[in-house]
Amino acid sequence: MTTNRTFTMLKPDSVEKGNIGAILEKINAAGFRIVALKLTQMTDRDAKAFYAVHKERPFYGELVEYMTRGPVVAAILEKSNAVEDFRALIGATNPEEAAVGTIRKLFATSISENAVHGSDSDENAAIESAFHFSEREMY
Ligand code: RTP
Ligand code: MG
Repeated sequence: MTTNRTFTMLKPDSVEKGNIGAILEKINAAGFRIVALKLTQMTDRDAKAFYAVHKERPFYGELVEYMTRGPVVAAILEKSNAVEDFRALIGATNPEEAAVGTIRKLFATSISENAVHGSDSDENAAIESAFHFSEREMY
């Protein structure tokens, strides 16, 4: 397991609003190195599998619709303490509770449409990275 890597997606709302460049700039400025990067659209099956941990939650259907309605930017990021530091950079799930200067505070619309995903553990970072990228797409 690689402990200095995390996985992110710039969610469909970020792509729709033209915020890819601005968000990548924040990620870069915070000291993350981009290991892998692509624009890709998840299928219904992909999103259901990716967020399977939430399948009993009331927002699951809405979440799957949101995450499949357009392309996302998927990326693997490298930095010491990557998972924790990236969660700090993106801020709380609900942008109203996110700290000033965080990506969600700056770019998210609501708790449902919150601009970015960040892995919540080293184990999930590895699983989610492998979900979107083959070894030969990681640099
Ligand atoms: P993510 O997995 O996308 O990085 O977000 P997170 O850890 O901060 O939040 P999580 O609890 O894992 O929820 C996954 C995503 O589901 C949507 N959500 N909607 N309407 C709601 O109450 C609600 N709660 C969560 C958000 O898109 C959230 O990021
Ligand atoms: Mg999560």
